[in-house]
Amino acid sequence: MRQNIVAGNWKMNNNLSETKKLIKEIKKNLKSVNLKNTRVFISPTFVNLRTAVKKTKKCEIEVVAQNMHYEEKGAFTGEISADMLLNLGVNTVILGHSERREYFGETDEILTKKVNTALKNNLEIVFCFGEKLEDRENKNHFKVVESQLKNVLFHLSKKEIKNIILAYEPVWAIGTGKTATANEAQEIHAFVRKLLAEQYDKETANSISILYGGSVKPNNAQEIFSKEDVDGGLIGGASLKADDFTAIIKSI
Ligand code: 13P
Repeated sequence: MRQNIVAGNWKMNNNLSETKKLIKEIKKNLKSVNLKNTRVFISPTFVNLRTAVKKTKKCEIEVVAQNMHYEEKGAFTGEISADMLLNLGVNTVILGHSERREYFGETDEILTKKVNTALKNNLEIVFCFGEKLEDRENKNHFKVVESQLKNVLFHLSKKEIKNIILAYEPVWAIGTGKTATANEAQEIHAFVRKLLAEQYDKETANSISILYGGSVKPNNAQEIFSKEDVDGGLIGGASLKADDFTAIIKSI
């Protein structure tokens, strides 16, 4: 059975005290929630990962990183390696977020190297993909999604791809308040699962969690999560408020 996952991507928000406060509030809220088959991720900025790991030791919340470099070590000023994350107790990393692609020039080629390095180091990956507004307007969204997945992931073995959590994040829905409708999300998720089944096999396709991200809020989470191929969400803005994040977790 594939896992449900609700992941909070905190992006460049929350200093150390805010990080501690938010974790405390989420932990308190989750005490009364039966998480069953649902994993909960939070992803603070690099400088607060160590504190976040410490503060979540005795609860189900998992701390994930927002990025990492593809080289193992060396003269790469300002970068963070896989080993550095693992050594802190972080076992999962988000790769390919559209903000990394858009503002930091991360191409499919760079992302392929990052994916390979992460897997070599036994890191689990939340791999983000999704089309821009113009792609959708030109009805190219299926093609764009297919090429993002094929270019970066489809060289992986069946065993390797099972360490990847996919996150469909249409760029036009991120931070805009415009959500894909539940049906639009389901349509892409089903398409992705079909691609996985063709490339690997049905069993593999059915074992990979596909999250939706883009303006998920307490008032739309339930409908989106109710769709057959939507296994949870990657949440930006709403993950910064403990009550909203908890409400979204409860919607799954
Ligand atoms: P919002 O939920 O703020 O739209 O952000 C989505 C996102 O980018 C999560 O990675």
